[in-house]
Amino acid sequence: MSFSLLRQSLSLSLNLSVHALLVLFLQSMAKARATRRSLDSFTVKSINKIIREILTLTCPVAGDCVLMRPSDSSKPSYVARVETIEGDSRGANVRVHVRWYYRPEESIGGRRQFHGSKELFLSDHYDVQSADTIEGKCTVHTFKGYTKLDAVGNDDFFCRFEYNSSTGAFNPDRVAVYVDFDFLKV
Ligand SMILES: *[C@@H]1O[C@H](CO)[C@@H](O)[C@H](O)[C@H]1NC(C)=O
Repeated sequence: MSFSLLRQSLSLSLNLSVHALLVLFLQSMAKARATRRSLDSFTVKSINKIIREILTLTCPVAGDCVLMRPSDSSKPSYVARVETIEGDSRGANVRVHVRWYYRPEESIGGRRQFHGSKELFLSDHYDVQSADTIEGKCTVHTFKGYTKLDAVGNDDFFCRFEYNSSTGAFNPDRVAVYVDFDFLKV
């Protein structure tokens, strides 16, 4: 092999290995970016609140309920139950997997007279949202728990139905009718 040929093949293999390293480096960068991990909780800095996901290890315990900013700011906040939380490898870019609560007026049947002003339906509509849209925490009580509150705050709601968002059906489909909840409002 002549010297110049040797030099050429050396530089070629050097270039090749630099290229291969670069490819490996870029691949691992992409992988690091794509790797997301599950978080049990995270803090929403703007409201200084810790949001926890649903606990299913021993018995199902509802995750935190959150108020989320609607795209139309004239609408009331959306309410959701946090099912799981994930972030990137540094715990940033947090996304929450949520199950939406519907307000009676968002349901197919619309608001009925026996619906409370703070009533929500737990829907079968799941979604993934950026944690940036969380604007507060709230509490969704059982109906019984709600009636026992000494004072009802802005962030207190109650839920006594699950709601099928494709058919508009409720579960349970019958419930004792309570005519007016407004006396419970603060
Ligand atoms: C909603 O109702 C449809 C039609 O009855 C049914 O197929 C579906 O499973 C229901 N969804 C849930 C979450 O129960």
